[in-house]
Amino acid sequence: MSRVALVTGGTRGIGAAISMALHNAGYKVAATYAGNDEKARAFHDVTGISVHKWDVTDYEACGKGIAKIEDDLGHVDILVNNAGITRDAMFHKMTPQQWHEVINTNLTGLFNMTHQVWQGMRDRSFGRVINISSINGQKGQMGQANYSAAKAGDLGFTKALAQEGAAKNITVNAICPGYIGTEMVLAVPEKVLNERIIPQIPVGRLGEPEEIARIAVFLASDDAGFITGSTITANGGQLFV
Ligand code: CAA
Repeated sequence: MSRVALVTGGTRGIGAAISMALHNAGYKVAATYAGNDEKARAFHDVTGISVHKWDVTDYEACGKGIAKIEDDLGHVDILVNNAGITRDAMFHKMTPQQWHEVINTNLTGLFNMTHQVWQGMRDRSFGRVINISSINGQKGQMGQANYSAAKAGDLGFTKALAQEGAAKNITVNAICPGYIGTEMVLAVPEKVLNERIIPQIPVGRLGEPEEIARIAVFLASDDAGFITGSTITANGGQLFV
C-alpha cells in the first residue's frame, strides 16, 4: 500500500512542486494551504491532489486537519513542513507583528504539525519528516531577522528531533533552498533581486521548485534511511556549508 505524505503550504511554490513530485512517485498526497482558495482549487483541479485549508500557527486546527486526512487517506508517514511566509523589513523598521507572524508560521508551525504525527510514527516505527529551511537560516539575510531566526531554528529542531526519532526508524532532515523562482522570491524588489541577489548566485540563475522537490522525494524514500539530522543545501553555489 502506498504511503501517505502531507505537505504544508503544498499548493503553491516549492510546496506545490513537492506535492506533485511525491504524487508522481506514487505516494498518496495531501496538501495544506492557509489562504489562497483560488490557487488551491486550481492546483487540485490540475493534479487531483486533495487540498486542506488551515493555519499551521493553530495547534488545534493542525490536529483536526490531520485527523481528517488520516480518516481519508491513512496515517501520515511523511510530513513535509514547507509552509512559510516572509515579512521582510530592516530590523529598525520591523514591527513585533512582523516578527511574531514569521516565527509563529516558520518555526512554531513545525512544532504544531510534527507533534501531531510524531506519536503515530513512533508507534508504527516509520516516519519521514522533511523541514524546508532556507539558505537565509544558514547565513542570515539583511531585511530578514525574523525569517533568518525562524529558519535557523528549523535546523536546530531538525537535529534534535533526528536524535529522538532514530531508534524508531523516523528520519528528520532539512532542505535549505537558495533563491528559487517562486512568488515569494519574485516579491523581492526587482532592483534588489537583479542587482544584489542574482549576482551572488554562481550558477547565474534562480533555482527551480522541481530542483528542491527531487530532494524531498529522495529523503522520503527507503533509500534515504541512513540520512537523518542532515541539512541538504541547494543554492546554486551561493553558500558552501
Ligand atoms: N541582498 C543585498 N542587499 C540588499 C538585500 C539583499 N537581499 N536586500 C536589501 N538590500 C540592500 C538594498 O539594495 C539597499 O542598498 P542601497 O541603499 O545601497 O541601494 C539597502 O539594502 C536597503 O534596502 P531598501 O532600499 O530596499 O530598503 P527598504 O527599507 O525599502 O526595504 C527590504 C528593505 C524590505 C529588506 C527590501 O530591501 C527587501 O525586500 N529586500 C530583500 C530581502 C531578501 O533578500 N528577502 C528574501 C526573500 S525570498 C526568501 O526569503 C526565500 C528564501 O528562503 C531564500
